Amino acid sequence: MRAIIFGITGQDGSYLAELLLKKGYEVVGITRRVSVPTLNRINHILPKIKIVEGDITDAFSVSNVIKEEEPDEIYNLAAQSHVGTSFKQPSLTWDVTAGGVLNILEAIRYSGRKDDIKFYQASSSEMFGKNYNLREGFAEMIKYQDEKTPFMPQSPYAIAKLAAHHLVRNYRDSYGIFACSGILFNHESERRGEKFVTRKITKWIGEFVASGMNKEFPALRLGNLDAKRDWGHAEDYVRGMWEMVQHEMPNDYVVATGETYSVRQFLDIAFKHVGIDDWQHLVVIDPEFYRPAEVDYLLGIPAKAKRVLGWEPHISFEQLVERMVDSDVETARLQRPDLQRV
Ligand code: NAP
Ligand code: GDD
Repeated sequence: MRAIIFGITGQDGSYLAELLLKKGYEVVGITRRVSVPTLNRINHILPKIKIVEGDITDAFSVSNVIKEEEPDEIYNLAAQSHVGTSFKQPSLTWDVTAGGVLNILEAIRYSGRKDDIKFYQASSSEMFGKNYNLREGFAEMIKYQDEKTPFMPQSPYAIAKLAAHHLVRNYRDSYGIFACSGILFNHESERRGEKFVTRKITKWIGEFVASGMNKEFPALRLGNLDAKRDWGHAEDYVRGMWEMVQHEMPNDYVVATGETYSVRQFLDIAFKHVGIDDWQHLVVIDPEFYRPAEVDYLLGIPAKAKRVLGWEPHISFEQLVERMVDSDVETARLQRPDLQRV
């Protein structure tokens, strides 16, 4: 089997490439030219994969690589994936996150192998935005999202993802292309981008610990601590992507843990893991990190993925937080050899 991964240099791309290699795939990764190195997440597997230069906003490069590489499967993980940035760069976000998907779908349609290629698109729980359903819990009503929850996107990013989501459905219905979308809720890891809130927190903690918990260390500046997210580990979620593509029928699935925690709760567990109970004086609330429109609450019910694909998350929220903190503490210590002797 041969797979193309758009977005191989990102968090999910790196885990998915590892998974496909383990399963014996030939992996082709598409990377764009940028002025700084971007291969750090896949350096350890570079000898085993083929890298091709390309950009999903360039329709020619997309169709050329799909024709030349003759893949069995294509995974599109490429996007301008930061919600806050999408308010500042809405046009770029639209071109990459929506337009890029159209380029891939059209390239598959005219590849001459339309019926031989299976396509996975990285959709997002951000598409639900402000919407949720209600069901009775033990003590109170539970708010949740699943495949039947109507979409109400709250950012240029989420609107672009929703356009792409509908394109995927439309190309599946119109041209019979095997195309599926994973509606993935937030998933993090030791490889998470440093601008996302979880990694921003754990990286700061790592550097703070490596400084010897120096009182002069600059504060951790954050925005809305009350937002709630359904946070899983990326390793579990890339397995869900692959399982969707292996199913005989293309379909859309929610992938989530079914639990939700606030940013504040993430902070509690992360700081406690390095022995700090009262972290409040170390954090400054900065309006810079608030968004013009917020998604307050996400809790996904992955019942369909469990029933149809047999997918289950294996890594708990607490394990996720502790793994991220441990990794960033270790990295920061190694970068501060002067502190190793202390
Ligand atoms: P990420 O770490 O930000 O990776 C994004 C990838 O897209 C990078 O490899 C990036 O390349 C690439 N890319 C950006 N613009 C491109 C362009 N014009 N042409 C080609 N490649 C381009 O994101 P992630 O967390 O791995 O997420 C993977 C996908 O899942 C994204 O589409 C994201 O929107 C979606 N998603 C993520 C989550 C989550 O919680 N992680 C949840 C739901 C959906 P560079 O390295 O060159 O920047
Ligand atoms: N990034 C960031 N930085 N977020 C902060 C900060 C901060 O300093 N302070 C508070 N937050 C809040 C945000 O307002 C948001 O409510 C929450 O923390 C999570 O923000 P992010 O980690 O940036 O993730 P996201 O939920 O907006 O988007 C991620 O998940 C989506 C799936 O739901 C991204 O991975 C998207 O690509 C993905 O689609």
